Amino acid sequence: MMSPYIEKNDVTEKSSDVIWHQASVSSHERSELNGHKSVVLWYTGLSGSGKSTVANAVDRKLYELGIKTYVLDGDNVRHGLNGDLSFSDTDRVENIRRVGEVAKLFVDAGVLVSTAFISPFTDDRSLIRELLPEGQFLEVFIDTPLNVCEQRDPKGLYKKARAGEIKNFTGIDSTYEAPVSPDIRVKTAGKSIEECADFVITQLRQARII
Ligand code: ADX
Repeated sequence: MMSPYIEKNDVTEKSSDVIWHQASVSSHERSELNGHKSVVLWYTGLSGSGKSTVANAVDRKLYELGIKTYVLDGDNVRHGLNGDLSFSDTDRVENIRRVGEVAKLFVDAGVLVSTAFISPFTDDRSLIRELLPEGQFLEVFIDTPLNVCEQRDPKGLYKKARAGEIKNFTGIDSTYEAPVSPDIRVKTAGKSIEECADFVITQLRQARII
C-alpha cells in the first residue's frame, strides 16, 4: 500500500474547478454581533514551556469576560485532525499549515482562538501571519529556557529523549527557532500561571484587542 504521507501531498493541490463561495455574513458582522475582535493568539515555545497551561488560563479569563474563545492544542489536535502526522520536519510543517488554516476559519467565525503548538520554524509562523488579515495574528512566545523545561518534564518526554527512546525531540535533536520579535513575550520561569495569564491579559488590553 502506498504511504499516506506521499498521497497527502497530492490532495493539497487544488482543482481549478473549485470556486470560492462568497459568505452571506461577513467576518466584521460576526465580530459586531459578538461585541469583540477575533484574532489568533499563536502560542509558541518548547515542549513543557507552558504553552497549553498559559493558553488555557488566559482562555478562562477571556471566557469570564464574556469573550467567545477556543483553544486548539497540539497534543489534542494530533489525536484527531493531525493524527496522521509524525514529528519529522516535513510533518511538523504540515501540522502547522493545517492548524493555521483552522485558526483562520475560527477568526472568520468571529472567535478569539488560541493555538498551543511548538511550531518550531520561523518561516511557518510567518506564513500563518500572512494567511490572516493584518493585525489578527499575535505571536505569543512562551519563553522558558530549555533547562527549565527539562527540569519540569511534565510528561517525562525529555528523559526519554535523552535516553534515545524518542527521536527528533524539539530542543534535543530537533531545532526550535525562537521568535525574535514576538507580539507578546511571556517569561514563565519563577512566575505563577496566574501571573503569566494576567500578563497576557494586560498586553491584550494595551493592544486594544479586548
Ligand atoms: S509541532 O512541532 O508540530 O508544533 P506539537 O505542538 O504539535 O509539535 O506537538 C508537541 C507535543 O507532542 C509535545 O508537547 C509532546 O507532548 C509531544 N511530542 C511527542 N514527540 C515529540 C517530539 N519528537 N518532539 C516534540 N514533541 C513531541
